[in-house]
Amino acid sequence: MLDRIRAIADRLTPRLIEIRRHLHSHPELSGQEYQTAAYIAGVLSSCGLKAQELVGKTGVVAELPGSGQRQDILALRADMDALPILEHTDIEFVSQKPGVMHACGHDVHTTVGLGVAMVLAELDTALPGPLRFIFQPAEETAQGARWMVKDDVMEGVEAILGLHVYPSIPGKNIGIRYGALTAAADDLEIYIVGESGHGARPHEAIDAIWIASQVVTTLQQAISRTHNPLRPVVLTIGQIQGGRAPNVIADQVHLTGTVRSLHPETHQELPQWIESIVAGVCQPFGAKYEVRYRTGVPAVMNDPTLSKLIEVCARDVCGPERVQLISEPSLGAEDFSVYLNHAPGSMFRLGIGFADEANYPLHHPRFKVNEDAISTGVTTLAWAMYRYWQTTQAKSAVSSSII
Ligand code: NI
Repeated sequence: MLDRIRAIADRLTPRLIEIRRHLHSHPELSGQEYQTAAYIAGVLSSCGLKAQELVGKTGVVAELPGSGQRQDILALRADMDALPILEHTDIEFVSQKPGVMHACGHDVHTTVGLGVAMVLAELDTALPGPLRFIFQPAEETAQGARWMVKDDVMEGVEAILGLHVYPSIPGKNIGIRYGALTAAADDLEIYIVGESGHGARPHEAIDAIWIASQVVTTLQQAISRTHNPLRPVVLTIGQIQGGRAPNVIADQVHLTGTVRSLHPETHQELPQWIESIVAGVCQPFGAKYEVRYRTGVPAVMNDPTLSKLIEVCARDVCGPERVQLISEPSLGAEDFSVYLNHAPGSMFRLGIGFADEANYPLHHPRFKVNEDAISTGVTTLAWAMYRYWQTTQAKSAVSSSII
């Protein structure tokens, strides 16, 4: 069967490269992916799949029923939004929309998702169970997965797979991660209110800038002393605003930041811990404060059995030397984790690096993709999705070993 999948994927590759280039030159921002959605629906219907549009605002969902032996659904998620970045590459199919760019490779994710659907549509009756293809908007704003889940895309789903391109892994290579792949990411706002006064008479005022400086310093120091160093936390204050004149003591400071963590317990403790530090610094000096903590996306925790399925299939497709195990998680965030509240899943990294030119990071205006990766991604995922049915026993069997 792998030979058949490979042959179909090879035949489709020129078309898939066309699709990827079309998507790349017509990027749309998060939540505005209307043309992208219509294009995806068009491609799906051209290969016999019925697409449901406007799911989760601008998302698209399609299904392959399979032969009916199994009812539990395996899903594949591909995100489709672009970033507010002015593209600065030399490619022919450069973005037609100045200031909007597929700089995170979601054009490739969508293309691979379409490619897998096209390959498996040709094998539909050979599949024991149903597959669901989820084309998700607004990943960059961490909203899209929640929109899709709200519209019931996880109904009946027993397992979900996903991918993200990665420039530091060479093209035609795949990276597999067991355990945490990305971090929980939360937003933080702190308001500190003191009392204004003359810059020369600090004892008659409450200096909000000095207190805010203590808050920033104490947060950073306390993290290293009060959290288990084997459970990483990163707290970054990225903005600080306050004060009106050099000789006037500021009465208000506004701080904003991001908080990243990997361990669920740590993640739960953080809002209260931050509040207690801020309170401890402000109270002795008579400053008032408010902490607004917004929980964002959880960490992506890959299911070991599904990671093993992808690893085994990637070795079959790419050869063992092109499959690497990723030793460290990233403290970046991915809203793929939202689906994992509903079913186990695994996300892998698809290498898109070039051997002979500079590889710029994700979200960079010069970010470029080695398109050889497309057929690698399609073949590996199509093979893994086909094999899923052979390697799991029955409903909820994803926890059993597939080795
Ligand atoms: Ni991304």
